[in-house]
Amino acid sequence: MLQMTKRTQLLALLGAGSLLCSVAEEAVSPNLPGKYVSWNRYVTCNSQKMAQPSNVFDLQRIVRNAYKNGGHVKGVGHLHSSSDIICTDGIGVNFDKFKKIKIHEDQQSVTVEAGVRVYDLVKYLSENGVGIANFPNIGDISVAGALGTGAHGSSLIQPSTMSDLVLSMRVVTGTGELKTIKGDLLDAFRVHIGVVGLLYDVTLKLIPGYKLHVQNYPVPASKLLDGSIEAMVPNYDLFQVWWFPSTDTAVVSNGTYVSDAEPGNDKWNFITSADPQDVTGMVDTFESVQAARDVGKICKMEAEAEKSFWTKVPGKPAIYSNPQGELRNPAVGFPHDMMSQVCSPCSWDGKVNKIPFDLRHISMGVPLERFKELVQEIQKILDRFPACFPFNGIWFRFSPASDGWMSLSYGRKTVHIEFLTPCRVNKDSDPKLGIEAIQLISQTLVNKFDARPHWGKNGHYYFSHKVRSAVHPKLKEFGQLAKSLDPRGVFSNDFTDRIFHSNPSKLASTVKQCALEDICLCSRDTDCAYGQICVKENEYRYCTYKEEGYRLDDAFTEAF
Ligand SMILES: Cc1cc2nc3c(=O)[nH]c(=O)nc-3n(C[C@H](O)[C@H](O)[C@H](O)COP(=O)(O)OP(=O)(O)OC[C@H]3O[C@@H](n4cnc5c(N)ncnc54)[C@H](O)[C@@H]3O)c2cc1C
Ligand SMILES: *[C@@H]1O[C@H](CO)[C@@H](O)[C@H](O)[C@H]1NC(C)=O
Repeated sequence: MLQMTKRTQLLALLGAGSLLCSVAEEAVSPNLPGKYVSWNRYVTCNSQKMAQPSNVFDLQRIVRNAYKNGGHVKGVGHLHSSSDIICTDGIGVNFDKFKKIKIHEDQQSVTVEAGVRVYDLVKYLSENGVGIANFPNIGDISVAGALGTGAHGSSLIQPSTMSDLVLSMRVVTGTGELKTIKGDLLDAFRVHIGVVGLLYDVTLKLIPGYKLHVQNYPVPASKLLDGSIEAMVPNYDLFQVWWFPSTDTAVVSNGTYVSDAEPGNDKWNFITSADPQDVTGMVDTFESVQAARDVGKICKMEAEAEKSFWTKVPGKPAIYSNPQGELRNPAVGFPHDMMSQVCSPCSWDGKVNKIPFDLRHISMGVPLERFKELVQEIQKILDRFPACFPFNGIWFRFSPASDGWMSLSYGRKTVHIEFLTPCRVNKDSDPKLGIEAIQLISQTLVNKFDARPHWGKNGHYYFSHKVRSAVHPKLKEFGQLAKSLDPRGVFSNDFTDRIFHSNPSKLASTVKQCALEDICLCSRDTDCAYGQICVKENEYRYCTYKEEGYRLDDAFTEAF
């Protein structure tokens, strides 16, 4: 076995021309198309082809070929990021054959291959009496993908991302070398934004197995302003808040890790599998409500969502349920059931409905000490431009300061602000309802609060050198280190060219009405929907209808 391995390695090293090519070809799956899209169809990538390697030598061959030929390669996860962080014009690499998990004998760490689903990992760990301290709320993503964007859960007293739990990782670098990233290098690449190489496997820190005991309950929104929230967060292993401005309420969720021997097999029904009929109904409803600019109706949906977060409402599964499907609140269950959601089919899956149900999320990390000020600022915007958030309201999650250079919470305690908005059927030509508030809130976070936009969410505009260099103090150093591992830029793409080299966005110049989807900030009326105008107020830009009667006139003439 060892001999075989050595021989294969030797052959690869010698670069025995034809053999190398044919082996590399074999790894390319004829069933996987080169073109791929993000979960919500915001981003489409046109790679030449998609490879499906089975072992680390395949990974090395793919990279070495690209290195030799000046080509590009990108590890492809489960495409739950909706930024062009996922794209390559060269070879996409699928990791479905990298699914091994090995818990080490001392039960202190686990080595996981890159393609393992987060949900499967967490479940497997629970079944074996161990766990990881935190992970993102979506279980459908891959381990390598979660580390790619520094995807987070919510806690101040536990590490809040899987990136923070990495003890070492093995990557195939841009020269095709298999390298173990540990020690000093590790902090640089914990959050790897797709450039460290092809991630082969990763070793994560374990804790003893646990269950989550959690409770959701409504509090008056005034609690967001009087320091109560900041005082509560550090008392819980899991803590998050959903703010529903239209009902003047926030729903708090406080959770504690308890022994896995504790009774309770409850589960969280935050994201559930979709019934195609419901999806059709949702697409139709959101389109008609938005086309009619019926803010009142969207706010009614927000109010219904608020109730469903802590009690049973008709037509929705209970927020937590026991195996009999009955409401449980407080609830107790295993982490994979209580903290990470999977769905099949998911409401956004393209095949579920003729017109896909498309969503956008804004999500950014802001220094926690500015929480109150931030809530006030958002309230001011909503007072001016009424808007409602029918899915999760405005969601606050928390992270302790992280050492990961590219982490959203690098060096600072962080509150993550997130909201989801439904798309229009014709997203490129029709504006979302509440576009003024959506655009002003996003820009306020960045302009006033040093927000770090989540690497896998937000509009294309937020992935520029200008935005990023202002908020990631280690950006330049990170770029240099990445280059030392990938001297020919095998893992580079449009995304890295913009972020590290200030290249202009290729996309923004080709898309018409680019402000509607935050591909640009508007600079002229034609960047907005037909009939809309682009308003400029200091450094803020937003699209609106002139007849909406918001104080536009001055702003409009001043802009042009
Ligand atoms: C419904 C939903 C809920 C979500 N909930 C959360 C949440 O709770 N918290 C949160 O922070 N985020 C959340 N996200 C965002 C999501 O967790 C991140 O975008 C995550 O990075 C996606 O992982 P993925 O496996 O889909 O990877 P992808 O999106 O496919 O890729 C992410 C990055 O990792 C790279 N990559 C993937 N595999 C490899 C590999 N083997 N080698 C090298 N590079 C690789 C890719 O090139 C890319 O740069 C959510 C997204 C959705 C759609
Ligand atoms: C959550 O907070 C409430 C109110 O302070 C408290 O009664 C409850 O015990 C907490 N629940 C958990 C699971 O920690």
